[in-house]
This record gives sequence, structure tokens and C-alpha cells, in this order.
Amino acid sequence: MNQNNYAMIGKLSTSLLHDILTPITSLTIGASAYQGEMAHEMKPIIDNSTRQIKEFVDIMKDFLIENDSESVVHVNKEIHKSIKLMSHKAIQQGVQIQFLEFDQVYSRAHPLYIYQIVINLISNAIDASTDCATKKVIVLLKKEKGLYIIECKDFGTGISFRHINEVCKMGYTTKCSGSGFGLYSVKHIVTQRLYGELKIHSEPDEGSLFSCRLPIRK
Ligand SMILES: Nc1ncnc2c1ncn2[C@@H]1O[C@H](COP(=O)(O)OP(=O)(O)O)[C@@H](O)[C@H]1O
Ligand SMILES: [Mg+2]
Repeated sequence: MNQNNYAMIGKLSTSLLHDILTPITSLTIGASAYQGEMAHEMKPIIDNSTRQIKEFVDIMKDFLIENDSESVVHVNKEIHKSIKLMSHKAIQQGVQIQFLEFDQVYSRAHPLYIYQIVINLISNAIDASTDCATKKVIVLLKKEKGLYIIECKDFGTGISFRHINEVCKMGYTTKCSGSGFGLYSVKHIVTQRLYGELKIHSEPDEGSLFSCRLPIRK
């Protein structure tokens, strides 16, 4: 693995850590009860947590080991893997994730870039939807004149006009356990690594649309 990859792993956001810690915590609690009377009830929790951890580790291996450097990647495939990683958080919070694929996209990128963009946008969209009536996140991929566009739309809390310029600043968070690193990292990858732009449209109580417009590179 090269230096760049190590640096990127270091930059993986706390949402990622949260995703792996959640099943590990259930597993630990489950395992301690396993010896006692609760053994029967705990079995599905333990099996489910183990499956989640295995899936997570398999996907991360794929991202980190097999794709050591930038190459032409099948963007649809990387988005599918990213959505899979977010699926247990979505299920837990009763949010449905829909992926609309209008085109097949192949472009030069590190798979971790796509992963970082998609999981951070979905994770935020889920957080914003939890207490709202429409618990749905739409991820969209399409091509447009030499560009590919990755969008993440939710119908959640939205962002007020005066905060919209703050959300991509390092450390900006409105969550008790937030890091404020997610959107900073999305913006950095979109603009500095993939030479594209990030547009945000949001209305309080209506929802948000994050749109990454990226040049197709062969
Ligand atoms: N889809 C969204 N809907 C509403 N607010 C959002 C959304 N995405 C991001 N935000 C706001 O931007 C802040 C920064 O997001 P982020 O950088 O990912 O950090 P974190 O998720 O750790 O708070 C969030 O705390 C939230 O206030
Ligand atoms: Mg976030």
C-alpha cells in the first residue's frame, strides 16, 4: 500500500468508525450475555453483527488492497459498495436508500474517493431524515457533456440559508457526536482530487441536494 493510501485511511471520517463500532458493540454485549440465560435471544444479534463486520471488512479490503492506486474505475460499482456499507445505518434509522443509475460511468479515480464522497453524503442524509416524515435518500448517477454527476438527495431537516456556506468548513457540526469532517473531506476530494465542483441546494424542512459534478477522465 502506498503513502497516499495510508493518508487516506487516516482521513476516513468518524462515521466510518461509527459504522464498524456499532456492530462490534452489539457483538461484545451479545457475547457477554451468551454464557448466561439470554443465550437463545442473543444468537440473532450476534450472527447479524458478525455478518455486518465481515461484510464491512470484505468491502474495505477490496477498496484498500485490490485498488492500490488511481485507475479507471466503474463508478456504478463503487457506489453500490458504498451504499451497501451504509445499509445497516439506514435500516436502523428506518430510512430507505434508492440508487438511480441513468448511465454506466467509467472514470479515473481512486475507489476510496468515490467511497468517501458517497458514504459521507448518505450518512448525513440519513441523520437529517431520522425525525422527518419522508425517510428516503436518493443517490443518482448520470452523465452530462463530459461530466458525471453524483447526487444525494434527502427530504430531511434541510440547512438554513445562513449556514449553507459553513457546512463544508472543517469542524463545523450541529450534531452531539459529529466531527464536522465529512463535508470538508467531500469538498476536498471533489475539487482537489477529482477536479470537479460541489453544489448544495437546501431548504429548511424540505430537504437537501448535494450534487458533485466531476469530469470524466480516461
Ligand atoms: N443532508 C443534510 N441535511 C441537513 N444538514 C446537513 C446535511 N449534510 C450536512 N448537514 C449539516 O452540515 C454539518 C456538517 O456535516 P459533516 O461535515 O458531515 O459533519 P458531521 O456529520 O460530523 O456533523 C452537519 O452537522 C449538519 O448540520
Ligand atoms: Mg457527516
